[in-house]
Parts: sequence; structure tokens; C-alpha cells
Amino acid sequence: MPRKIIIDTDPGQDDAVAILLALASPELEVMGITAVAGNVPLSLTQRNARIICELAGRSDMGVYVGCDAPLARRLVTAEHVHGKTGLDGPQMVDPTMPLQSRHAVDFIIDTLRGAAPGTVTLCPLGPLTNIATAFRRAPDIIARVQEIVLMGGAYFQVGNITPTAEFNIYVDPEAAAEVFAAGVPLVVMPLDVTHKALATQARVDAFRALGSRVGDMVAEWTNFFERFDKEKYGSAGAPLHDPCVIAYLLQPDLFTGRHVNVVVETGSDLTLGMTVADWWRVTDRAPNAMFMGDVDADGFFALLTARLARL
Ligand code: RIB
Ligand code: CA
Repeated sequence: MPRKIIIDTDPGQDDAVAILLALASPELEVMGITAVAGNVPLSLTQRNARIICELAGRSDMGVYVGCDAPLARRLVTAEHVHGKTGLDGPQMVDPTMPLQSRHAVDFIIDTLRGAAPGTVTLCPLGPLTNIATAFRRAPDIIARVQEIVLMGGAYFQVGNITPTAEFNIYVDPEAAAEVFAAGVPLVVMPLDVTHKALATQARVDAFRALGSRVGDMVAEWTNFFERFDKEKYGSAGAPLHDPCVIAYLLQPDLFTGRHVNVVVETGSDLTLGMTVADWWRVTDRAPNAMFMGDVDADGFFALLTARLARL
């Protein structure tokens, strides 16, 4: 029985690779893709989500438009990382598949209410605005969520958008604080682990060697968005943040981490959006998240490349 998931996303080149990995994997049933404002404005993330579905041959996929701004703050975007369109690198044509008419938040609520409790996993790859809005509007769905597996946060790796905050959490810290405190089983892929999933030249060459449009697009996307991390961190390639979420669903033993308490800072301008992980368990705060710290990078890229070969 495939695992039912909803992907909530702000594409973004790494979101694109995550979505392709999910659509290439029969172990997963993608019930819908909900777009949120993040890397680029919502008008582009909903466009990009459809481009990715069409690239995967899935123009039948339900793509839903979500929230265009954080719960309580102005939107901060990341064109400096992902380019003006959010999918810079290769030339992209506008999608022709339709958007769904239902709002993404209504789709999330309806899907969780319509499925047996504990059978739908939420996979947020961007700011948590859609998820928090759904929980606020329909608190009854919180207990129905099987698990949330998200990309966001940082502890030992500290921040990528401020000295202390990772982008997805920083954009909507109030939403993140509410999701982290909701009591849903949580698996977190922070920068601590995603910065170890680097698309080195050899790994990008393996994408190209697939000899497919998917392989070529993924190679061009990673070659584009690696500049930011190479300049900032001296990385050996683009960190494939969001695909870690999907890879965990397919092969959880690729990842190691700790079940600890994680609280999101919302009160301090200096550390806004910081995920304060009690890694050494020095407080009496109850653990609420499986916070990942390491990945078998070769195994991750072997899985990813093998699955992309199927598209
Ligand atoms: O900080 C990395 C995260 O922010 C990734 O999800 C990337 O796509 C951006 O949304
Ligand atoms: Ca993302």
C-alpha cells in the first residue's frame, strides 16, 4: 500500500528535485501538491510546481494555490539563491496543466478529514504557512496527521538567511512555532544534514549521464543554485535540502539524528526563526522532533539517481 503524502512546497530547484523523486517512487502516493510563498512569490511557486509535474509526465497531479504571505510578517524571498523565476538554470516554458480551484489549505483540511486517521503524511519543503493555517482553521485535523517530515531549521550548522535562522523557518517563524508545538510526530531535516547532501560534480555528471530531459534539467538546476553555497560555505556542490525529506520516506536508514525538543524563536529580532534544539537534553522540555544530523550521502545520491532514471 503506497504511503499517502501531501507535498507543500515553494519551488525552488531543490524542491523540484524532491517532487521528481516523489513522483518517481511507487512507494509514495502524492495526493496533491500545495504551493506556498517562499523562495519566490506564490504566483511563481504555483507555476513552478506545475512545470515540475509536467516534466515528470504528471499533468494529472492536483496542484493547489496556498498562502501568499506569512501569518504575521512580510514575505522574504530568496531570488539571490534560486534566481528570479525560482527555477533559474535551464530555460523553462509556462505550464499548460490547470491549477485546482480549491485553496491549498482547504485541500489539506479536506484530505485529512477524508482519510483514515494516521494515514496521511505532510511533507513541507518551504515556509510552514499553509500547514499552520490549516491547523488553526481545523484543529481537528492535527490528530489525524500520520507524521510531518519537513525540511527546515538548523542547529550546529546555524543559519543560512540570518546568523541563526534557516530560510523556511525564518520566513514564517510564527507558523513554524505552531507546527513544532502541535504535537504531531515530527521528522526534521535541518541544514545540519542537508549540507552533507552535496551535489558534487561527479554526482551532477551522473544526473547528466541519465541521458534524459529530467536528468539534464536536474543537472542544470543544481549547477545554477550551487553558486550561493559555494561562495558562502565553499561547498563542494549544491546542498539538496528538500530531496532529503522524500529520501527519508523511501529509505529512512540513510539518516541518523536524535529525538529532542525543538522550539522556534519568535520573540527576538536577533535570533528570529532559530530552531533551538535541546540536542544535549539539558532542559526538561519534552522531545517533539526527530532532528536529523547525518546522512549516507552516497546512498542518498544512488537512490535519487536511480529513481530519476525512471522518469
Ligand atoms: O534553507 C533551505 C530551504 O529554503 C529549502 O527548502 C529551499 O528550497 C528554500 O525553501
Ligand atoms: Ca523549499
